[in-house]
Amino acid sequence: MTTPRTGRPTLVVTRRLPSAVEQRLAQEFDARLSVDDHALSTAELQAALTSADALLPTVTDRLSAQVLQVEPLRTKILANFGVGFNHIDVAAAKARGLVVTNTPDVLTDDTADDAVMLMLMVARRAGEGERHVRAGAWTGWRPTQMLGTKVSGKTLGLIGMGRIGRAVARRAHHGFGMRVIFHDPYPPPADVVAELGAEAKRGVDAVLREADFVSLHSPATPETHHLINAARLELMKPTAFLINTARGDIVDEAALVAALKAARIAGAALDVFEREPQVSPELLTMENVVLLPHLGSATQETRLAMGLRALENLKAFFSGAAPRDRVV
Ligand code: 8YV
Repeated sequence: MTTPRTGRPTLVVTRRLPSAVEQRLAQEFDARLSVDDHALSTAELQAALTSADALLPTVTDRLSAQVLQVEPLRTKILANFGVGFNHIDVAAAKARGLVVTNTPDVLTDDTADDAVMLMLMVARRAGEGERHVRAGAWTGWRPTQMLGTKVSGKTLGLIGMGRIGRAVARRAHHGFGMRVIFHDPYPPPADVVAELGAEAKRGVDAVLREADFVSLHSPATPETHHLINAARLELMKPTAFLINTARGDIVDEAALVAALKAARIAGAALDVFEREPQVSPELLTMENVVLLPHLGSATQETRLAMGLRALENLKAFFSGAAPRDRVV
């Protein structure tokens, strides 16, 4: 397929996006949209980088240093669709003179809702109950059937207190009367912490020791890789649950499987995985585990807002202004 020479910047959009976003992108750019929504291979990413002025990637595009080494590099900006950008080697991007942007803010509420949903699902055995009904196994109500764990009033431990962590704290404290404890190397200002009814702990370990629910809200960085490992899982209460809506590689998934098998923790609720879309097969067999396919921001409203935010970043960049969400 030949690209029309319109004088507008060329843009490769790696995956299908909501149609309103695709329409806007095609109005503003000489856009090559995804036709069949497949995840691009290394060769396809490199072809895009050598032939388009801009790339709009998603979490499924591994823009490693090796991929970004391609010559001749034509792309000037990676306008990521999503707030997390650990699939992009930002140091390599910077070294190649690329600008990288993301889409913060617009997905904060949805991701916080997702974490709360997972907390409730795993505590109240919602997935298990649903499977039971769908299997036609329900024979009627009884006082001792499928008893879960109470959420209201319990202690929620947040690892990471950025935008999403704070939104979870707000829901948990003001909605469920939970005590919120947290650790973040860059904690929010004291007035924000007070408004959330939250209490800072000196380290991750202190949060893990006390929490009934541990929810992860850190970015994926070399420092947070396997932050939740065997030793840290050991610190959690045997009655506690782990919730992850951040990034899979913050948790050592093999260690989590071992901890669940040995009943060292009560359960886990995961929206993200170490090797997406692969899930450790043992997890699939565990009733006390909730598994979702990376749905944190998956609402129509938010995916539209994410697309428009990426568009805004691209437009700013090509008009010579500073993109609002520049990360590199
Ligand atoms: C996105 C996410 O769906 O924004 C993020 O960091 O994890 C998700 O909300 C995904 O990254 C889209 O690329």
